[in-house]
Amino acid sequence: MQFSLFNESKSQRVIELFKRVFSASEGEAEGQVIADFVAKLIVTTAPKELIGCIAEENDNVVGCIFFSRLAVPSRQVAYILSPVAVSTDVQSKGIGQELIKYGLDHLKSLNVKLVFTYGDPSFYSKTGFDQINENIVKAPCRLSQPIGWLAQSLDGQAIQSMTGSTQCVEALNDPGLW
Ligand SMILES: CC(C)(COP(=O)(O)OP(=O)(O)OC[C@H]1O[C@@H](n2cnc3c(N)ncnc32)[C@H](O)[C@@H]1OP(=O)(O)O)[C@@H](O)C(=O)NCCC(=O)NCCS
Repeated sequence: MQFSLFNESKSQRVIELFKRVFSASEGEAEGQVIADFVAKLIVTTAPKELIGCIAEENDNVVGCIFFSRLAVPSRQVAYILSPVAVSTDVQSKGIGQELIKYGLDHLKSLNVKLVFTYGDPSFYSKTGFDQINENIVKAPCRLSQPIGWLAQSLDGQAIQSMTGSTQCVEALNDPGLW
């Protein structure tokens, strides 16, 4: 398994991976929604605000994650992890967790302070995410499942309560994704 940073030469293969994986797990319509979201994320996000990581096996892209910049009131450097996919045929082998750890190590090397995500706490807690109340840090859109709002600090400091709103990148700023 090889982990590396995403670059645009991999766009098509990554979009196809998300479409395949989410069609299998959530149905074809959701597969298309996520594929469209990833395509928009790649095209509309400034390069320094988007960090993708991919897992490859025998030249096939089998996993991909994206972190995009989240503006927070404390002005700390923060990113949000979304979306995440591992190819159906190689799930439950630890690839998802390894890929997220690879990405978090890269963010630490860039001095990123906070990382957020929105998803299943039982999966993301395996890579250091904890549930966070919106009284501490607000989500950028209204959450249909507040239990899935998760965060971790990368510098060992506790996450401080912040007053004010957060702002995600344009592609994520879609109420249907939250
Ligand atoms: C979720 C996903 C990225 C996990 O990747 P993976 O490589 O299969 O995960 P890992 O092998 O590293 O970890 C597996 C662990 O996570 C748990 N897990 C796997 N998929 C999960 C899911 N969809 N929800 C909750 N927990 C999940 C498993 O129970 C397993 O725990 P265990 O080994 O203690 O039993 C992958 O299953 C996937 O792409 N699913 C479809 C798309 C999706 O749901 N993306 C995430 C949206 S929040």
